[in-house]
Amino acid sequence: MNILLLGSGGREHALAWKLTQSPLCDTLWAAPGNPGIAEHATCIALDPSDHAAVIAFCEEKSIGLIVIGPEAPLVDGLADSLRAGGFSVFGPSKAAAQLEGSKGFTKDLCARANIPTGGYVRVADEADAMAALEKFGAPVVIKTDGLAAGKGVTVAMTMAEAQDAVRDIFAGRFGNAGAEAVIEEFLEGEEASFFALTDGSTIVPFASAQDHKRMGDGDTGPNTGGMGAYSPAPVLTPELAGEAMTRIIAPTVKTLADEGMPYSGVLFLGLMLTREGPKLIEYNCRFGDPECQVML
Ligand code: AMP
Ligand code: GLY
Repeated sequence: MNILLLGSGGREHALAWKLTQSPLCDTLWAAPGNPGIAEHATCIALDPSDHAAVIAFCEEKSIGLIVIGPEAPLVDGLADSLRAGGFSVFGPSKAAAQLEGSKGFTKDLCARANIPTGGYVRVADEADAMAALEKFGAPVVIKTDGLAAGKGVTVAMTMAEAQDAVRDIFAGRFGNAGAEAVIEEFLEGEEASFFALTDGSTIVPFASAQDHKRMGDGDTGPNTGGMGAYSPAPVLTPELAGEAMTRIIAPTVKTLADEGMPYSGVLFLGLMLTREGPKLIEYNCRFGDPECQVML
């Protein structure tokens, strides 16, 4: 079959490398791709926010599978438009991608399904946010509700830092992503990522990973989306991974399906391994970048 891969990161380079190893893959197209991807695929210019243009391309090239790499087109509902056009897609619907697109949505889902995560309060203005900070005390975590390219989270060690973060959000620093926010209990422990594949009912554990967040050697410098990664994550023992499967992933997939938003694609869990067991920090609706490289 012909495959269309959307994205331009290291993650999509790894996906392109792996997809072309499949005997099922005839021609691989990538939009927009990058020079590394160009060694495996034919790169083309295609705007993922123009759903009609993507559908027209898929019809013209007889695409049998579309693999959506990054979160933005998923949160924007590209998978829904393509499925409505009769195409097979790797990646969740707009409704299910809210797991990454709205921190408040995920926290409420955890509350409904009794999934272990930090305590939280959803807030839509500065006064409510300040009151929530008082409830938790420092350290405390402040998150924009919407997508903010990994910059919408502040882990505040002092109340002053927390109040600054709240003022920033409600002064509009993150635009619409910060129209709402989540104030969250600070969780202590080691962090690890876990990935599972699902079609909305069956769940297959895929791999664990950890990324190096700090920019400089020796874990120094500012936080990044990951300067490198390794897999598996030794801290995520088979017992802890099993616990994450039964207590976090399975109830998430079941609740979404029961509520009419079945999730299909890869579920990426950020976990905190606390003394009370693994707790969910966040969900992403895609592979990690750079984690995808070491896992594939
Ligand atoms: P997120 O975008 O939600 O993954 O948050 C970014 C980073 O902030 C995480 O990788 C954690 O290191 C940290 N973080 C997020 N939420 C919490 C929390 N409740 N307690 C402690 N650290 C957190
Ligand atoms: N490396 C972290 C992420 O892809 O979100």
